[in-house]
Amino acid sequence: MLKASNSLGSEVDEDPIIVKVKEIYDPVIKKVPKVRSPDLIIKYLRETYKLIVKPYIVYLTIAAFMNNRPVLYEGPPGTGKTEIGEAILSLWAGKSAFVLPCSESYDEYRVIGDFHPAIAMAKGFNEESFIPRPLLAALILDTGVLIDEIRRSNEGFQNLLLDIIDKRRIIVPELRKTYYQRGDGFQIIMTSNPLDIAQNELSDAFMRRLIRIEFRYPTPEEEYNIIMLRLGGLARYITDELISKAIRVVKELRRRAVYKPGTADLVSWLTITAMLAKAKNKMKADKHDLLEAGRSVLLKDPEDENVVEELLR
Ligand SMILES: Nc1ncnc2c1ncn2[C@@H]1O[C@H](COP(=O)(O)OP(=O)(O)OP(=O)(O)O)[C@@H](O)[C@H]1O
Ligand SMILES: [Mg+2]
Repeated sequence: MLKASNSLGSEVDEDPIIVKVKEIYDPVIKKVPKVRSPDLIIKYLRETYKLIVKPYIVYLTIAAFMNNRPVLYEGPPGTGKTEIGEAILSLWAGKSAFVLPCSESYDEYRVIGDFHPAIAMAKGFNEESFIPRPLLAALILDTGVLIDEIRRSNEGFQNLLLDIIDKRRIIVPELRKTYYQRGDGFQIIMTSNPLDIAQNELSDAFMRRLIRIEFRYPTPEEEYNIIMLRLGGLARYITDELISKAIRVVKELRRRAVYKPGTADLVSWLTITAMLAKAKNKMKADKHDLLEAGRSVLLKDPEDENVVEELLR
């Protein structure tokens, strides 16, 4: 039976907010297999989500979940933090996770709930005018939450999260209601790229609670496997020679360029290269296709023009 507690602490069956959350969010929550063993999760990530994930990432994440501790994925752009986080949360809960892309303006009204202005004017600030938002929905539906780019949020938002993480409950003062974590599906992964500009510091209190997992660029062999997995049928347009060249160029750009391409850029570069060959009715992409696609995908900062041209030649 679904329960929330009212201000007196007594349980209320079929609370109207719980009913509302189910009405709004159930249709968008997809059931997926519930998988708890790290080795099986690694297999599902590869076969279902097309993600090749280093075992230490999965083991640490699952260890944290078993302790009800939130996880922070930190590392360079395009290393799969967001996709891997969302996939592991979904497998752990057995249903799709919520993704909250942070911005400076995030606050409780955006993530817990707010009131419909016209309905609130007419009927007051009550259950009828309350619109539940994803963090409250995740807690009620017992599924995971990915808080993307946490460093883009403000300190007030981080303090709000701290309280929820510590107490595993969400208070909605206007309704005089408290909602509690109801199972172990409600887990939290945050992502951050410490080198991103416009970053806010995370407080010590915040960092203390988190299990921080560092993401690194994959090795060339791992990147080769990721490319094959991601390109699927398109891989037949690309020779191994072009793939090796692309992996070498990207590795060098990470060292020398302002815009440092991630694995996401590498995959997208080779996908566009293959598409170019296909669009031109060719059996295989050639060096020129690789160069053309490379300019569009890798040249994102004018300062990199020379180094990109030099490496693509
Ligand atoms: N380990 C991986 N396995 C498979 N694909 C990967 C992997 N790492 C990166 N990719 C590629 O990158 C894409 C996912 O990148 P994602 O956006 O999750 O990275 P991110 O680290 O969150 O980047 P950003 O910091 O820019 O948000 C995938 O769609 C895939 O093309
Ligand atoms: Mg991301």
